[in-house]
Amino acid sequence: MRQAGRYMPEYRKLREQHSILDLCHTPELAAQVTLQPVERLGVDAAILFADILLPFEPLGLGLSFAAGEGPHIANAISRQVDVERLPVVNPDTDLAYVLEAVRLARAALPADIPLIGFAGAPFTLASYAIEGGSTRTFTKTKTLMYQVPDTWHLLLGKLADLVGAYLTAQARAGAQALQLFDSWVGCLSPQDYRTYVLPHSRRALALASEAGVPVIHFGTGTAAFLEDFAGAGGDVLGVDWRIPLDEAWRRSGESRAIQGNLDPAALLAPAAARDAQVRDILARAGGRPGHIFNLGHGVLPETDVGAVRAVVDLVHGG
Ligand code: CP3
Repeated sequence: MRQAGRYMPEYRKLREQHSILDLCHTPELAAQVTLQPVERLGVDAAILFADILLPFEPLGLGLSFAAGEGPHIANAISRQVDVERLPVVNPDTDLAYVLEAVRLARAALPADIPLIGFAGAPFTLASYAIEGGSTRTFTKTKTLMYQVPDTWHLLLGKLADLVGAYLTAQARAGAQALQLFDSWVGCLSPQDYRTYVLPHSRRALALASEAGVPVIHFGTGTAAFLEDFAGAGGDVLGVDWRIPLDEAWRRSGESRAIQGNLDPAALLAPAAARDAQVRDILARAGGRPGHIFNLGHGVLPETDVGAVRAVVDLVHGG
């Protein structure tokens, strides 16, 4: 994830002329950015260049990205009526530009490089919709969750349906795997995950699975409730570095594939220390089939591209 981004000179160059939303809205540019990491890093798969928050535009929530401040949602959700009046999003028309980017990227990629489509999970999307942007405490999100659970479940149910339809539309357009990002779900207690989130993630993943391509369920900070998180569905469990890969794999069931889990900050370490961490992950995977080597979260903007390339080469046996 965040395979493309500010750490890449060719991405920064495009960003001098276009905002992040411009890049997302212009299928030719989005497809071009999708290919950048494949060419520069030699990775085995491409992830579509888009953003999990794009569906907020047809939902009428008002999305913008302020330089250096992250996303801003103008019409944040706080009341039952805000949820009731959310329109039903039709991805084929309302997010047609994303699907066009999928088609163009798929056509431009080498045949042996699969394209991954993605969406935000109901909880992570809801947290942005309620907070109006990024947060460290999730105060508004949890207040609504505890104070007005009916509104909460109505919102997450609507988001689960949207995400399911959006992911299957991406698969129809040519995405060969789908990833559901529950980036911030680790802020919840295990009990609250089970009560307030799990049923909705399960629904989103079940709908996505109807597309007939592998589905990756990614979260960070999920170690405390990994069995429930894995139990929500998907073919691949995406974990971060806060849990050893072998432990995560054992706890999630070894019939499932696993993705992870290098700390993105390891790419800022001296080469020897970084490579030791990469080797440790490979040793924990033990050469068994079903391990997708990845970072546990997105590449940090401060990262040197050469360090990322070195990790790809090491994983490839170089
Ligand atoms: O190459 C890729 O990985 C594909 C592109 C991608 C982006 N966003 C582009 C982007 C993907 C997979 C995402 C997912 C995304 N977006 C997530 C889930 C994954 C994760 O990292 O947890 C989340 C939570 C978002 C929401 C979002 N988008 C935030 C919080 C920000 C601001 C981040 C910052 O550091 O400023 C964005 C903007 C964004 N989306 C960037 C990129 C490359 C930042 C770079 C820029 O401004 O050009």
